[in-house]
Amino acid sequence: MKRVSILILAVLLLLLCTTPTFAAETTSDALNNEDQDEQSSTSLIVYFSHTGNTLELAKHIQELTDAEMFEIEPVIPYPEVYEECVRQARTELADGVFPEISDHVDDIASYDLIYLGYPIWIGTIPRPVATFLVEHELEGKTIIPFCTYGGGGISHSVTDIQALVPEATVREAFGVTGTKASEAKDAVYEWLKELDIDK
Ligand SMILES: Cc1cc2nc3c(=O)[nH]c(=O)nc-3n(C[C@H](O)[C@H](O)[C@H](O)COP(=O)(O)O)c2cc1C
Repeated sequence: MKRVSILILAVLLLLLCTTPTFAAETTSDALNNEDQDEQSSTSLIVYFSHTGNTLELAKHIQELTDAEMFEIEPVIPYPEVYEECVRQARTELADGVFPEISDHVDDIASYDLIYLGYPIWIGTIPRPVATFLVEHELEGKTIIPFCTYGGGGISHSVTDIQALVPEATVREAFGVTGTKASEAKDAVYEWLKELDIDK
């Protein structure tokens, strides 16, 4: 009787191991399953978003990687009126200002990989993002930029990031028009796959 029970148990176990699962797997699930362990423990999504477009990309990356998120927030918020904001951003860029940010990542040493998100402002990163870069110890880390823009593209933002953190490795950026950010999840997925960041 005992032998029969063991035999039945063994057959059941065998069936369980060999039966394929037919659960629907979205592209995001797939990336999570493949890369989650290595990415989630050491990755951080850092972003600045004035009107919410770049936040949409950050959320896609969060869903695809399970990484934690950190928002760069300037102590003094930027004007909501577009022209005023552009005027201020232009002046800050010309003057090389590092605006004060309200919070820092205390345990930055525990992250190897930083997804860095920003809107393109005057052809480059907004100055609060520059503040984040110079006020954290990023030597030896990998930075993966992602951005949204109006129509000017990624422009010289990536080389500007590299200049601020010469000891970090800055990878290929992902960029999309701000109005298309919410529907860019598949494109984000393809970009992350292409980066092959585990190797
Ligand atoms: C101050 C300012 C400067 C901008 N400069 C540029 C630019 O140089 N090139 C561009 O394509 N878009 C530019 N834009 C448009 C933003 O990059 C675009 O709307 C972006 O999606 C906004 O992202 P957010 O919603 O995350 O803030 C600018 C917007 C602002 C407010």
